[in-house]
Amino acid sequence: MTDKNAEGGCPFNGAAAAPAAVAQPGDAEWHGAQMDFSKSMSYGDYLGLDRILNAQHPLSPNHNEMLFIVQHQTSELWMKLMLHEMHAVRANLQANDLAPAFKMLARVARIMDQLVHAWDVLATMTPSEYTAIRPYLGASSGFQSHQYREIEFILGNKNAALLNVHSTAPDAYALLDAALRTPSVYDEAVQLLARSGLAIAPERLHADWTLATAPDESVKQAWLAVYRAPEKHWALYELAEKLVDLETAFRYWRFRHVTTVERIIGFKTGTGGTAGVSYLRKMLDVVLFPELFELRTAL
Ligand code: HEM
Repeated sequence: MTDKNAEGGCPFNGAAAAPAAVAQPGDAEWHGAQMDFSKSMSYGDYLGLDRILNAQHPLSPNHNEMLFIVQHQTSELWMKLMLHEMHAVRANLQANDLAPAFKMLARVARIMDQLVHAWDVLATMTPSEYTAIRPYLGASSGFQSHQYREIEFILGNKNAALLNVHSTAPDAYALLDAALRTPSVYDEAVQLLARSGLAIAPERLHADWTLATAPDESVKQAWLAVYRAPEKHWALYELAEKLVDLETAFRYWRFRHVTTVERIIGFKTGTGGTAGVSYLRKMLDVVLFPELFELRTAL
């Protein structure tokens, strides 16, 4: 069927509209854009694209390995940004400077959301495709991601035993060792509750930072006071909801990881040596900010 309104003019009037100007090979300019970077920094220079785009080295002859590599590398880049933001959040909480902390916590939660959606791309990899790659992966696994482990630690899910994975990588080990010994973002939120006049047990304020966050009754009562009178404690209330947003996004990430893994490898063991899906399912039980979830039942 002829569409008289189609771009390019009416086919019945015999006079087609003039075609849009098309750039000719050899055109020396394009809309005033700078073309010569012999003396100035280009996009690729600024972003170090040479190094980033040449860091994909598939080991198998399989076409789909590129997806596997890019998916992990992009996740690591987003994790890098999350850590950058969360270190600043922690410093802001220490300084009672909540407005920038809120902004950054919102960003971290959105990054996590983005990583949740990224699983849709990886889910296009079939078990047959993964099976072709798996022999080439050796014992490498996301389990060894030191950035992921630091994210867990900075959110309070500490586990000293997992440092051993990095005993042959001194830089990563030192980073994780420091993260293990430093109060988490949530520990700083608890300190802030105390500085705001809410009663927190001294044992909680001077906890052993190398241990995972343990639920504490005084912290629960403090958050309950905040949620019972939000108008009186608005900043703490907003902080609590930002933390809940972040933990919720993190839970979605864990869930999408385990469901994608089950879809691809079923109940085979992981390349990192764990039982695979059953290990990842246990990780779904991790609660980062326990009192913030407990208070909802008590409210
Ligand atoms: C086909 C794709 C994937 C499969 C089959 C897979 C499988 C697994 C398995 C079985 C584990 C448990 C440890 C082990 O024994 O290896 C694990 C852990 C992990 N994976 Fe994946 N994974 C995949 C993709 C990804 C991607 C794209 C990321 C993003 C960085 C990722 C990050 C992690 C992390 C951080 C852990 C440690 C989790 C924890 O200890 O709580 N994985 N993966």
